[in-house]
Amino acid sequence: MKKSFVYGMFVEGDNFTDRVKETRRLKMDFEHGMNVILISPRRMGKTSLVKHVQSQVDENLVKVVYMDIYDCRSEYDFYNRFAEALMKQTASHADLVMKNIKDFLVRISPKVSFSPDPAMDYSLSLGITPKDYSPEEILSLPEVISQKIGKHIVVCIDEFQQVGEFPDSLTIQKRMRGVWQLQRNVSYCLFGSKKHLLTEIFHSKRMPFYQFGDTIYLEPIPTEEWVPFICAHFAQEGKRISEPQAAQICEKVHNYSSYVQQLAWNVMLNTEGEVTDEILQVAMQDLIAHNTALFMQQIDGLTTYQMNFLRAVARGVHKDFTSQETLETYNLGTKSNITRLITVLTNKELIEKRIDGIYIADPVLEKWLL
Ligand SMILES: Nc1ncnc2c1ncn2[C@@H]1O[C@H](COP(=O)(O)OP(=O)(O)O)[C@@H](O)[C@H]1O
Ligand SMILES: [Mg+2]
Repeated sequence: MKKSFVYGMFVEGDNFTDRVKETRRLKMDFEHGMNVILISPRRMGKTSLVKHVQSQVDENLVKVVYMDIYDCRSEYDFYNRFAEALMKQTASHADLVMKNIKDFLVRISPKVSFSPDPAMDYSLSLGITPKDYSPEEILSLPEVISQKIGKHIVVCIDEFQQVGEFPDSLTIQKRMRGVWQLQRNVSYCLFGSKKHLLTEIFHSKRMPFYQFGDTIYLEPIPTEEWVPFICAHFAQEGKRISEPQAAQICEKVHNYSSYVQQLAWNVMLNTEGEVTDEILQVAMQDLIAHNTALFMQQIDGLTTYQMNFLRAVARGVHKDFTSQETLETYNLGTKSNITRLITVLTNKELIEKRIDGIYIADPVLEKWLL
């Protein structure tokens, strides 16, 4: 079924818009063997962009292998996901996957389970343990495979910040970098969203991945790109929205990708023929209501001071938190509290530092707080 607006999962085809510049840059990086680090807030469009580029590169020259490590909790969780993705995606069908495993991973006996739904994928479980293969052996796989298939391989690792949470993370990062930087026919695209964690991994001189590759901060899609997208999708459903109204949808959520699509969808649901300003307002209220459970979860466990700090920022205080007036008006405790408040709330990704001060990271959360 063709959907007008999609949010909460990666988008492709007719639901994917713009990103022309980013696509070109990433495609160049992939085709020229450059390592890339791609960072943005959650649900801004990283996965969609990488999958889009994957569909654009010349398959005869470059093999792009994509994996998501959001649920990997340890080093060997990671190696299993890494090896599974490589085995599956460098072969064109299931028989060849088994051959791949025989060729490259002789010491294990994999489990393959086929889904009852023929359209669905099969799942492959390699069960690699330290007794079977060393970290270095697994990390070397892409280079070995690339030589065999005679193509450059780009390994894309989604939610890479997860590595920062592994026990003994620093040692693991050293191992990865140590092996990967010597590979001649393989490059990496590492991306994720927890900005502070990724920043730690990639921008700290002490860390192994310092200056590993071309760093791209994925910016929001500009309004002038969204407007024709939104108007066209309304027109396809025989409904009308004016360009200024489509622009309002973007502005209300600061062009935050998934919210633009979610709000546009709410507007469409409420519209019979033509969008009105009242519908726009109702749709925005619906958006806040639909996300309330999520926001409750995000603020769960915050202290009174932390909540007060969020409220202050939502009300427009962006700096000078230690002034007596601000401390008192918003009940933020003592001056010495502030640095810690900022650190904790930044780590939880509730607030972010911009050039001119501190802001609520999520534009809809900000409205909800108000
Ligand atoms: N290029 C795009 N065009 C249209 N919508 C997009 C685009 N990129 C992201 N989105 C919207 O954002 C949502 C999240 O995208 P996703 O790629 O999963 O983000 P991330 O990987 O950064 O969390 C999508 O469901 C869609 O609503
Ligand atoms: Mg993603």
